[in-house]
Amino acid sequence: MKKEGFSSRIGFILAAAGSAVGLGNIWRFPYLAAQYGGGIFLLTYLVLMLTFGYALLLSENCIGRMTGRSPIGAFRKLCRRKGLPGRLIMPGGWINALVPMIILPYYCVIGGWVSKYVFTMFSTPVEQFTSGKFSADYFTGFITSADSSLFFFLFFVIITALVVCCGVEKGIERFNKILMPVLILLIIAICIYCAFLPNAKAGFIYYLKPEWSKFSYMTVVEAMGQLFFSLSIAMGIMITYGSYMRKSDDLVSSVNHVELFDTVVSFLAGLMIIPAVVAFGGEKAAANAGPGLIFVIMPQVFASFSGGQLVGLLFFILVLFAAATSAVSLLETNVHTLMQEMRLTRVKAISICLFEVMIIGTVTVLGYNLLSDVHPLAFIDALKGKDILDTLDFISNSILMPIGAIFTTLLVIFIIGVKKICNEIRTPGKTWYREYVYRFCILVIVIPCLLIVLLNATGLLKYS
Ligand code: ALA
Repeated sequence: MKKEGFSSRIGFILAAAGSAVGLGNIWRFPYLAAQYGGGIFLLTYLVLMLTFGYALLLSENCIGRMTGRSPIGAFRKLCRRKGLPGRLIMPGGWINALVPMIILPYYCVIGGWVSKYVFTMFSTPVEQFTSGKFSADYFTGFITSADSSLFFFLFFVIITALVVCCGVEKGIERFNKILMPVLILLIIAICIYCAFLPNAKAGFIYYLKPEWSKFSYMTVVEAMGQLFFSLSIAMGIMITYGSYMRKSDDLVSSVNHVELFDTVVSFLAGLMIIPAVVAFGGEKAAANAGPGLIFVIMPQVFASFSGGQLVGLLFFILVLFAAATSAVSLLETNVHTLMQEMRLTRVKAISICLFEVMIIGTVTVLGYNLLSDVHPLAFIDALKGKDILDTLDFISNSILMPIGAIFTTLLVIFIIGVKKICNEIRTPGKTWYREYVYRFCILVIVIPCLLIVLLNATGLLKYS
């Protein structure tokens, strides 16, 4: 079987950036930034991105390119014949492979919500497009109606599956090459539009000016959790996409581009959303909006000014593009793992993955209606009263991803060796300016930071 891969460096960059840029940037980042103090959250996030996030992103891509394998195969190949440390670290591959299998079903459920809003923005007659229509009740009414949310969930799954069916070069690479530039143009256009809303200035100050009094231990914890989600770290994705890279491609520069793309989109998403929300309801409304920010508050913002319907439609199309490119990478990672581990054809692997997505995704949708009394793992404090989607998100983001990333870091330090991985990462004849940042972060910063996230999530360490 011919090994699949990207046909060009730009193909890799756009696909990896497409994976990184997703709901994390446009849905999650702005509400966290609004909630945790605006400018101070942004600053903390940027510092962590350039250090902690950079080290993990580079390591995962390098492990993929060195081994040419899926996460399980990559860990196995590197840990084989390494004695006890190898046997202890090898299970890390399974954890990295399990994470995207847990995330993809609920990611498609949220992708379905976004699809619904695209459809609503498009189909609502202008005269009915008033703030009353988009109340919190409208959103709750939608997610609690099983048939409508199942329909849009299915719609989103089908788009994702069609792209992955076409393979790496003809499907994923081509899809991202078209959508990523469109996404950037759309986001810039909406940013400029929102900048001219009356009272947007107060929102700009809130978002861009760090206020030290708002800094707390939770700012760091939340910014770190966000980094994982946003950069697609510890989801097996970057190992998989790294394995599709050509040996001759410049890894450092490619990863720099992905990091830059992801950060710029998160930054612009905040710039597009926070000033608009502050202008609409003040700092308090922005800080208290939480996960409903783009589904509850933003449509009300759009409904409050003329021409808002078109901007709202473009906004949700943008979010849909971003979500689809990330969902594609999650599905591709699962498919690649099955193809390599079970020696299946692409079509068989996709069928098995879709079956899993349909079952868990349907249960997640029903968690808001027929199964609303089911609170899995409610014996864990952090999960008391949480629905199925929140539970899956907690298990993957707060528990498995930090553990998976700890294993990856241990793999780099004790199995591959920092000197050897640096030689792999460095492109002959080129200067790698951040090599010392990488070495310092991987040896000193990453594991303590990951332990803090993990202990905080499990409730073993709690400050407010
Ligand atoms: N990295 C992807 C996102 O931000 C999963 O949504």
